Amino acid sequence: MAGKNNSSGFDTICLHGGHAQESNRAHLTPIYASSTYTFDSAEQAAAIFKGEEQGYIYGRWGNPTITEAEEKIALLEAFGLKDASGNPLRLKAILHASGMAAISTAFLGNLKNGDKIITHQSLYGGTHEIIEKILPDYGINYIITDFHDMEGVEAAIKADLSIKMMHIETPANPTLQCFGLKALSALAKKYSLIVVVDNTFATPYLQQPFRYDVDYVVHSTTKYLNGHGTAVGGILVGRDIERMSKGLTKAHRLLGGNSNAFDAFLLTNGLRTLSLRMDRHCANAEKVADYLAAHTAVSVVNYLGLATHPHYALAKEQMKHAGGMLSFELKGGFDAGVKFINTMSLCTNAVSLGTCDTLITHPASTTHLGVPREQRLKFGISDGLIRMSVGIENIEDILADLEQAMA
Ligand SMILES: Cc1ncc(COP(=O)(O)O)c(C=O)c1O
Repeated sequence: MAGKNNSSGFDTICLHGGHAQESNRAHLTPIYASSTYTFDSAEQAAAIFKGEEQGYIYGRWGNPTITEAEEKIALLEAFGLKDASGNPLRLKAILHASGMAAISTAFLGNLKNGDKIITHQSLYGGTHEIIEKILPDYGINYIITDFHDMEGVEAAIKADLSIKMMHIETPANPTLQCFGLKALSALAKKYSLIVVVDNTFATPYLQQPFRYDVDYVVHSTTKYLNGHGTAVGGILVGRDIERMSKGLTKAHRLLGGNSNAFDAFLLTNGLRTLSLRMDRHCANAEKVADYLAAHTAVSVVNYLGLATHPHYALAKEQMKHAGGMLSFELKGGFDAGVKFINTMSLCTNAVSLGTCDTLITHPASTTHLGVPREQRLKFGISDGLIRMSVGIENIEDILADLEQAMA
């Protein structure tokens, strides 16, 4: 079937990848709203349980709707890549109830009491919180370093043998920093660390971390992969099929962060247009960034596609395009941020990102309201910072909305 392997084109995989004909010959894989699956005999049940025969058992362990989304995303992340023997890279994906559930499985399925994670500042808030507030109670601690200072990262790893995992989010939320996957992954591998990359902002269309030998990719599928804001979800993708099928599958099933057929159906439907949507997100974001960079009310534009961004060259090296996310600072500070958000009309004031329509947030008055100002400023989240997930509307309409709010 077209798209069943990673030798088809990327767009073809978006449409057909992972699709299996079902018994009633439905064009699209239906929503398998069934919590359990039947067996013809005790012998067959035993064979399925032992993995000798393919078959579904129980909804928390998966269903055909979930399998299609998982296989499609695994094919997209592996697109065009080869394994060490020169064969098409095979990956395995496990769909979760949320990005945080996928990240939890990656952490708890790989780390034990006494292990440490090395990571960077400016992570998605939920990831930062689980690392800072939940994992230490289970004996898993963390070190935050500057991932642009490779000597510093190496010194930190060398100094602490309990570091077992490197977690990288690139581009990172909300200041759009970019971290060098090639150099960081090579360094991590030198010290046998497990490497996890959060690829939510880029999607496999713009960036493929497995090109750099990383072990796992996670996504909040809630964002660009679903693309329509219709379901919360997450995916964990791994290159060690054996480990994914055993240890990580066990952790996923027992932690209970499973997805469901309805959300998986919505995700698969969204994935069918991923590349088309991303092209438009990227083209629009570029124009919005140019507009903002020339505006007198704006002091800084954080967009990886602007040559003024400190990580412009790095982003160009590892991403096909700078993407659809940007943030910018209004000179007028907090009050200007609040006024701006309240004046925007077409663009929607909401958290989240990656939906077809443009979403804007003012972190200082919403997502980071509870973070002390000095700490927030240290993370680059200034009083007048606005984050924008540029949608696929007609660019003239997005610019007109910005123009009236700026006025
Ligand atoms: C980069 C990144 N990773 C992970 C998550 C968590 O995903 P979810 O909200 O689907 O649990 C988010 C959510 O915004 C995110 O932006």
